[in-house]
Amino acid sequence: MTTSKDISTHTQPDNNLDNNQNFGVVKENFGEADNQPIYLFTLSNRKGDQVKITNYGGIVTAWISQDKNGNNSSIVIGYQHLDGYLAQTPYFGALIGRFANRIAKGKFSIGKETYSLAVNNGENHLHGGNKGFDKVVWDAEIINNDPPTLLLSYLSKHGEESYPGNLKVTVRYTFTDDNELEIEYNAETDKSTPVNLTNHSYFNLTGDVSNSILNHILMIDADNYTPVDSTSIPTGEIKSVTGTAFDFTKPEKIGTKINEIGGYDHNYVLNNKDNFATPIAILTDDISGRKLEVFTDQPGIQFYSGNFLNGTFKTDDGKAIEKHTALCLETQHFPDSPNQPEFPSVILHPGEKYHTTTKYKLSLQ
Ligand code: BGC
Repeated sequence: MTTSKDISTHTQPDNNLDNNQNFGVVKENFGEADNQPIYLFTLSNRKGDQVKITNYGGIVTAWISQDKNGNNSSIVIGYQHLDGYLAQTPYFGALIGRFANRIAKGKFSIGKETYSLAVNNGENHLHGGNKGFDKVVWDAEIINNDPPTLLLSYLSKHGEESYPGNLKVTVRYTFTDDNELEIEYNAETDKSTPVNLTNHSYFNLTGDVSNSILNHILMIDADNYTPVDSTSIPTGEIKSVTGTAFDFTKPEKIGTKINEIGGYDHNYVLNNKDNFATPIAILTDDISGRKLEVFTDQPGIQFYSGNFLNGTFKTDDGKAIEKHTALCLETQHFPDSPNQPEFPSVILHPGEKYHTTTKYKLSLQ
């Protein structure tokens, strides 16, 4: 373990690789939120690729790599200034909790107790409520420079967003020389509570939102998905993807059948054959030649094709972020699990340890 370089006078982070910068983690001031200092951490690997993460919401603000033509660009949507995030975004790059995805009508019971959460998405609860983990200030510690590793910690107090129990959460981001961004989540509670943590990065492998993601090619190793009602709550059924627009068991262009269903915003039931030996999802793009592989130990993944993006949000260089110009691959437990006894349990009890890992690996095809 080596010490970090602190260049906190540098307040204008940019998206260009600095070739003089060695691998490791660099910390910069990024502003202030909730009267606390916010930092931007740049994790650089020996290949010169960089992942930028802020302790506001644990947001991945950029993942900069070379495309097949040697041009640098970020494969995730993000802002170079904190203001963009404070003004609210559709969870660009953020850590999501205490419960990622939806809980029907914001209600669930554990034993004899019923809990009512904020209803912030139609009639349902989404992504932890009004001020989820994406909008809180995390403690941040650079725990290693080789490989660059950042540890974020947060204590979600009993009653925060009406969830029960003091939940101690840590999220460890590691960026390896193989261009793997590994996200390891840990949590412990003192009262039984639902927990479902994920990262909400919006990918466009071309690095340019002028290009639709409908031309990206996707494989998801899932024979089944969880169909939803008109409010996006699972019906409880586990349904085969075979012969439907949901079938990505073989690499398929995202745009091929999207019109049959209007847009993807669905949870896939992962086959999860061999934890981490093979990817559970692969995304490729011919324009950049980039390939993103996803590995996880989670039972599900939400494939969201950016259906609600509508040009309201703009990139730093002023480009409107339109429908289908970015997509999310959110590893998770199934939506509404607290109310669906047939789904794998999401209740963390005192004395238990929540532990899960997801890895995104970037390469050129
Ligand atoms: C949800 C979408 C939602 C998006 C942004 C995704 O995880 O499934 O329905 O619009 O997050 O909030």
